[in-house]
Amino acid sequence: MTKHGFTLFVFFSAVASTTCRDEQDFCESKVCNEREFKQNHFYTNEKTYGEIPLTLSHRLLDALPLDELDGPVSRPVRGCVFSGSRPTPLKEPLTLAAASQDVLRNILDLNESVIQNEEFVLCVSGGKLFPGSIPLAHRYGGHQFGYWAGQLGDGRAHFLGEYTNRKGERWELQLKGSGKTPYSRSGDGRAVIRSSVREFLCSEAMHFLGVPTSRALSLVVSEEPVWRDLFYNGNVIKERGAVVLRLARSWFRIGSLEILTRTGELDVLRTLLDFIIEEYFKSIAMNDPDKYVVFFSRVVNETAHLIAHWMSVGFAHGVCNTDNFSLLSITIDYGPFGFMESYDPNFVPNTSDDEGRYSIGAQANVGLFNLQKLLEALKPLLTSDQLSQCRQTLREYSQTYQQRFHELFKAKLGFLGNQETDSYVIAFLLKLMEDTGADFTMTFRQLSEVTMSQLQTGSIPPSMWALSDLLSHEYFRDWVQLYLKRLSRMESDSDAARQHRMQGVNPRYVLRNWMAESAIRKAEKNDFSEVALLQKTLTEPFVEQEEAERAGYSSKPPSWAQQLRVSCSS
Ligand SMILES: *[C@@H]1O[C@H](CO)[C@@H](O)[C@H](O)[C@H]1NC(C)=O
Ligand SMILES: *[C@@H]1O[C@H](CO)[C@@H](O)[C@H](O)[C@H]1NC(C)=O
Ligand SMILES: *[C@@H]1O[C@H](CO)[C@@H](O)[C@H](O)[C@H]1NC(C)=O
Ligand SMILES: *[C@@H]1O[C@H](CO)[C@@H](O)[C@H](O)[C@H]1NC(C)=O
Repeated sequence: MTKHGFTLFVFFSAVASTTCRDEQDFCESKVCNEREFKQNHFYTNEKTYGEIPLTLSHRLLDALPLDELDGPVSRPVRGCVFSGSRPTPLKEPLTLAAASQDVLRNILDLNESVIQNEEFVLCVSGGKLFPGSIPLAHRYGGHQFGYWAGQLGDGRAHFLGEYTNRKGERWELQLKGSGKTPYSRSGDGRAVIRSSVREFLCSEAMHFLGVPTSRALSLVVSEEPVWRDLFYNGNVIKERGAVVLRLARSWFRIGSLEILTRTGELDVLRTLLDFIIEEYFKSIAMNDPDKYVVFFSRVVNETAHLIAHWMSVGFAHGVCNTDNFSLLSITIDYGPFGFMESYDPNFVPNTSDDEGRYSIGAQANVGLFNLQKLLEALKPLLTSDQLSQCRQTLREYSQTYQQRFHELFKAKLGFLGNQETDSYVIAFLLKLMEDTGADFTMTFRQLSEVTMSQLQTGSIPPSMWALSDLLSHEYFRDWVQLYLKRLSRMESDSDAARQHRMQGVNPRYVLRNWMAESAIRKAEKNDFSEVALLQKTLTEPFVEQEEAERAGYSSKPPSWAQQLRVSCSS
């Protein structure tokens, strides 16, 4: 253990055994009786894997209808929320490239030594099932880039089951990149090292930034060849497959409900919605005739809060389709995301998104669009009076968002209490940052580190490179005067207290694309040292760390970073 509460992992290769092949074939492409299907899964699991100290359960399966057909045949499905679907084991040798200590210990109640267990590595990569696990693929639909896209569903993810930990929290475990499912369409069901490293690092990083998010337990890389067209330009190259085990309180999305309304499966819609409210929105009374209205207002409020939070750390999700938007308003589905460097409201992380539909500055509006789609999905279950209440809630979304945005940025500037000019001071700074292309993360961080007297005298040390960029702006002095005046109005405050407060909300390290890229290039050569360094650094993004400083993680991005095009094929 280091003083920061984490240790570096020992990386090793696990040689998989093949004892579970007979199970892999179980039930494939044959119609199964649902009960027999469940029992057989339970039975084979108990028989084989006593020593894995993690047992999963499945309340979902008892409550929600399951597709009768098992196996990875792509097809439209009706009348169900899940389909049985087995992970396809990755080609060996497998390497556990990274694991999250925090998830192991604090979510799964596991001793970190478990990662030395070969069986465990198989379980977290789809080669074996955890005891009690019944692997499923979720059926959902969604609006993609503004249009209804029909049935989508988990095309390369397997929901393994849920775990209730010592604290009584329930977490749903999912593999990503674990092979074909009934929802794969033309996909191969795999994920490459590149996108898996990004998801693993970013979901953990977001958690430690304090943003609601799915988590990642592990990253396993393999020798499995996976073919990808990196820039959608016809140049197909060979990459390698990887699997991330990810966790969330729930993986239900807006699209989980939408598909049921679209196909007129209203009984299933009601069953699923009641299940979601009962399980995840405990404070809503099930006998409340307005429970759907209350549910909707919760989702609206929390979505507004989530997107404001994204903005406060400069995070652009990149694909805010309704199938990528969680009903619990947590960040899910890390694909072509990016942290904004130079402040630019038009920042678009997906380099193929030419229209900028999902630019960072458009996220609040896209959130509203997605909530409208949610309301359309709920509509058949609402009375006309309830529908108009929901519409009213939607009209309040923008104010909720603005208010939260305002609070978060006030905290970023160290303000206590409210002053009429606060919005102006925030907007003024953002405008200066936009004009000068100042770095978003480091501008706020360096404002947290600079002293009031340095600001007053304009003696900003050159090491404060982001603030130095702002210094060139003709109105910067004016802004500084406003800012200092605002700070000096907080009578019981001290400069040290202000700095301390601000350093607790303005990270020094975020997962910039160039950092992820540098770690990925090494990972593709089986060197996971930079994945480990980034993981460690981003566990304490608000604390200055020596190794991270030496790696340049708070420095001006290297010149090669400017030319970087992040591939979005995943
Ligand atoms: C984890 O397990 C190892 C080996 O079984 C043991 O020595 C160690 O004390 C355990 N650690 C914790 C935190 O329980
Ligand atoms: C809105 O959501 C936030 C974040 O979860 C929560 O703190 C707040 O209490 C909610 N407000 C309302 C009115 O529900
Ligand atoms: C999000 O949605 C897109 C399109 O809607 C889907 O293809 C993709 O798998 C999802 N993205 C991620 C990163 O899971
Ligand atoms: C990036 O944007 C393009 C253009 O809109 C879209 O076709 C593509 O699916 C997006 N990539 C991802 C991973 O969502």
